[in-house]
Amino acid sequence: MSCSDNDILDSGVSSTIEVDSVFLSKDSIFFSDEEYQDWLSTRHNTDTSSYLRIENGRALFNSNCNNCHPNNFRKPATGPALGNVTMYRDMTWLIEYTKSSTKMIKSGDILATCLFYNWQGSVMNNFEHLTDKEIENIYLYIEDESKNQKIKKDEVKYIKNCNLDSLSSRW
Ligand code: HEC
Repeated sequence: MSCSDNDILDSGVSSTIEVDSVFLSKDSIFFSDEEYQDWLSTRHNTDTSSYLRIENGRALFNSNCNNCHPNNFRKPATGPALGNVTMYRDMTWLIEYTKSSTKMIKSGDILATCLFYNWQGSVMNNFEHLTDKEIENIYLYIEDESKNQKIKKDEVKYIKNCNLDSLSSRW
């Protein structure tokens, strides 16, 4: 049979469904009505589908990060712009930094210390209540949104190297 929005199939009868390929991606998943209701009522931070991970990241970004890092991702505000950040920073570093930039600074991480000196006056919150997976979802969302907004590589400038000795003489 062919199928349109909200068609309900009799679960006792085996059926073949044709779905127009424009609605399909490699991450498509099919649910029975019961599974769908279950899906709606759970948090999706452990899902492996990239669509769901990005949507989870979007929600987490909007509630935790957006007030200091606006989601146009091009312009700095209280914190730096984050467009294409995953091209410049390693995911493991990003997760640890997001959980606690203060711990990283204390442990002597040069980049975290440089960022802190560059943004004198404001300090990023720690997000130790977020799981690694949730933080990764936030960066998957930023990566996806940077593509959607066509932010060019190098459009947002990131600190690459910095010399702590020159910093300590400045501050
Ligand atoms: C209270 C404001 C504030 C909030 C909320 C905030 N940040 Fe930040 N963020 C900053 C500031 C300020 C810096 C610059 C470093 C510093 O001074 O701590 C920064 C730096 C960063 C950097 C480093 C950028 C680089 O060049 O490597 C990343 C990544 C980042 N934030 C991600 C996030 C994410 C993800 C969230 C939400 C989970 C978030 N921030 C929430 C203020 C904030």
